[in-house]
Amino acid sequence: MKIAIIGAGNMGSAIAKGLAKIESDKETFNICIANRSKGKLEKLKDESPTLSIANSFNEAIEKANLIILAVKPWAMKETLANLKFTADQTVASVAAGITFEQLAEWTTGTERFYRIIPNTAISHQASMNIIASHNTSASDDTKMLELFNHLGTSILLPESKMAAATALASCGIAFLFKYIQASMQAGVELGLTPTEAKLLASQAAIGAGTILSKDVSTHPSTEIDKVTTPGGITIKGVNELDKQGFTTAIIEAIKKSI
Ligand SMILES: NC(=O)c1ccc[n+]([C@@H]2O[C@H](COP(=O)([O-])OP(=O)(O)OC[C@H]3O[C@@H](n4cnc5c(N)ncnc54)[C@H](OP(=O)(O)O)[C@@H]3O)[C@@H](O)[C@H]2O)c1
Repeated sequence: MKIAIIGAGNMGSAIAKGLAKIESDKETFNICIANRSKGKLEKLKDESPTLSIANSFNEAIEKANLIILAVKPWAMKETLANLKFTADQTVASVAAGITFEQLAEWTTGTERFYRIIPNTAISHQASMNIIASHNTSASDDTKMLELFNHLGTSILLPESKMAAATALASCGIAFLFKYIQASMQAGVELGLTPTEAKLLASQAAIGAGTILSKDVSTHPSTEIDKVTTPGGITIKGVNELDKQGFTTAIIEAIKKSI
């Protein structure tokens, strides 16, 4: 499979580095990346020597099966105007807010599209990747999910659910950082060093995420029940969170992020 990545910013580079690490017995991946300016590409090649660097966007997409567009949303129309695709190529955009309708209007040569919204954990292959498809086959969708599972976990959703999903997974990572930051502030006030507090709070967050993702039958309420001994200290903290408006704050923050 030949994959071209257009744009070597934070997102394009993270995708390129993650895909370059794939070791598969089933398929060989050839990853080629191009960027408007050159400096970022040399650094990327040093970090991931198996990547191919193209001198232009059109050179990168030549013979590619999948083209991942990772330029800024406002640069998408201009970038697509200069690209020539063929009907068997699939274009995947990671640009936030750019719809299939816009992609179809700005693209010539192919009508097969994906929208992908990863989050910043993609640099550690731990991203939640939200994928929507347009004019693609079920087997293409399966391959796309498998490809992005190498960079974390992927879910296929209709485009109509992308904004809500983005609020939970992409904006949500910032809300989780706020929780960890607040925990650290409390921990330091209670005598822990910032390093100790960061490890304790972030590992607790990883633990909660791991429990919920590994055990599909469980639910946050079940897990809270397990740690709240009647009359114990945890229930006092949980009740204080609700008294201080924690649940409402999270619901409103997610609704505001649409
Ligand atoms: N970062 C995230 O967490 C995240 C999450 C989901 C989706 N995204 C999406 O990923 C895309 C890239 O974001 P980023 O975070 O990687 O930004 P970034 O680090 O600032 O990189 C921006 C990229 O866009 C290119 N670009 C900007 N203007 C251009 C133009 N007029 N013509 C051609 N290329 C142009 C830049 O090229 P130069 O290097 O030459 O400036 C660079 O490759 C965006 O569409 C964003 O919505 C990002």
